[in-house]
Amino acid sequence: MNRRLLAALFLNALVASALAVEDGAAIYKMYCVECHGAKLEGNKATALIKDDWLYGRTPKYFKRNIAHGIPNTTMIAWSNVLSNEQIDALVQFIIDAQSSPPGISMPVPKRVDTEEYGLSIEILVDDKLRNPWGIEFIDENRALVTEKEGRLRWLVNGKLDPRPIDGLPLVYRRGGLMDVALDPNYEENGWIYLAHGHAIDHPESQNPRALTRIIRGRVSGYRWENNQALFQVPEDRYHSGGNRWGGRLLFDREGYLYFTIGDMARGMASQDPTLHNGKSFRINPDGSIPQDNPFLEVDRAIQAVYTLGNRNIQGLTLHPETGDIWATEHGPMGGDEVNILRNGNNYGWPIITYGKDYSGEIVSNLTHKEGMEQPITQWTPSIAVCPAEFNTSPLFSKWKNNLLVGALAYEELRRLVIEDNQVVKEELLFKGYGRVRDLKFGPDGALYVLLNGPGSVLRITPES
Ligand code: HEC
Repeated sequence: MNRRLLAALFLNALVASALAVEDGAAIYKMYCVECHGAKLEGNKATALIKDDWLYGRTPKYFKRNIAHGIPNTTMIAWSNVLSNEQIDALVQFIIDAQSSPPGISMPVPKRVDTEEYGLSIEILVDDKLRNPWGIEFIDENRALVTEKEGRLRWLVNGKLDPRPIDGLPLVYRRGGLMDVALDPNYEENGWIYLAHGHAIDHPESQNPRALTRIIRGRVSGYRWENNQALFQVPEDRYHSGGNRWGGRLLFDREGYLYFTIGDMARGMASQDPTLHNGKSFRINPDGSIPQDNPFLEVDRAIQAVYTLGNRNIQGLTLHPETGDIWATEHGPMGGDEVNILRNGNNYGWPIITYGKDYSGEIVSNLTHKEGMEQPITQWTPSIAVCPAEFNTSPLFSKWKNNLLVGALAYEELRRLVIEDNQVVKEELLFKGYGRVRDLKFGPDGALYVLLNGPGSVLRITPES
C-alpha cells in the first residue's frame, strides 16, 4: 500500500474515533429517563444509582444488560438501537453517577434477615483466594479449597494456610482447577478427586487442544502424591477453544463418581454420545466404567456418558431422602435449570431450551419435545446458577432437605423448598456479596460459601 493512502486511512480512523466519543448523559436523557428517572432514581423501572443491583453489579453486567436487554421485562436489547460506543458511554455515565465505584467494595452486613432465620455472616477468608472453585471438608478442622489458577490449598480452623499443596499436574488455565471431592472411603484410602482443564498440546502454545480431565491422588501434608488420571477423552476428540468446562464432581450412595463437562460452545455436540460436550458422566472411583452405563452399545460412544443435552452443569448434589442426583445447569440468556439426572436421559440442550443466545439469536423455538426431559424449575432471566447443595444440617432444621443454590452473575443465594420433586417455594436469602461458586455444609453444621470477586469464604450460621 502506498504511503499517502496509509496516512489518509490513519487520519480517517482518528477522526472516526474522535466522533465515537459519545455523550452518555445525552443518550441517557433521550432513551432511558422514561423508565429509570431523570436522576437515575428509578421510575417505571428500577433505580440506577444503588448498591443492590438486580442483574449484576459490575460494569461488565451493566453493559450486558443494556446491550442484550433483560428477558421477560420491558428492558429491551439496546444494541438494536445504539452503537457499541454509545452503550459504553452509557455504562460510563452510570458508573460516574454512583457515589462509590461499583463492583469494587461492597459493604458486608454481619447479618441478614430471612423468613426462617436471622443469619449471621462471618467472613473467614477475605479476598485472599484467587478464583476459588471447590471446597471439601476433610475432618472437623480442615478443608481443601481449589483455586482456578491451579492451586490446592488448606483451610485450617477457618484460616487459609498460605502454603499451597505442590506436585499437582499442570493445569490448563482456561478450564483451570475446578471441583474437589473426597472418596466415600477417604478415611481408609485417602483418595481425593479433582477436575481440571488439561491440554494435550503445550499449554502456552496458541490455542492448545484442551479439555476437562478427572484425576485422583492423595495429599500428604503439602504434597500431592500417587496421581492417577481417571478420565480423559480419546486424543482425537480433544479440541482447541470453547468454554463451559463443567467440572463439578459428586459421589452417590452406591459409590459411583459423577462429573460434568459443558458444551464447550458446541451446542449440537451435546446430543451426540460419541462426543464429550454437554453431558454428565459416571465412572467407578478407579476410572473403570459401570456395566449399566447407558451408551455402552453405541459405536464409538464415550462409555462414561450418563446423560445428554446438558449445556453446562455447575452444581451436583444428592437428595437426602431419595438419593437422586440433582443438577443445576447454567443456561444461555434465560433458561437456567434444575434437573434430576437419570441414567441415559436427554435434557434437550440445544434442541429445547427456555433461553436465547446472548447475541439475541434464537437457539431454539422449542421448550418441549418428546423424549427430552423438562427441568424441575428454570430461571429466565438467568441468575447464572452455579452450585447446589441440599441441606441436612441440624443447625438449619427449619430448612430441612431444602435445596440451596448459588448464582454467579446475580451473586445470590437462594433456598428452594422441594416437595415430591417439585419446587413449592423459593426464597432469595441474600445477594451482592460476590459470585457464588460453591456451597458446602461443614462438619460444624455451618454453611460455607465460596465466592469469586472477592475470592472469599463466608461461614453462615443461624442466630440463636
Ligand atoms: C421501557 C422501560 C425501560 C427503558 C426505556 C429502559 N429500561 Fe433499563 N430496565 C427496565 C426494566 C423493567 C429493568 C429490570 C428491572 C426492573 O424491573 O425495574 C431494567 C433494568 C436495567 C438495568 C439493570 C438494573 C439492575 O438493577 O441490575 C440497567 C443497567 C438498565 N436497565 C439500563 C438502562 C439504560 C442505560 C437505558 C437507556 C438506554 C434503559 N435501561 C432503558 C426498563 C427500561
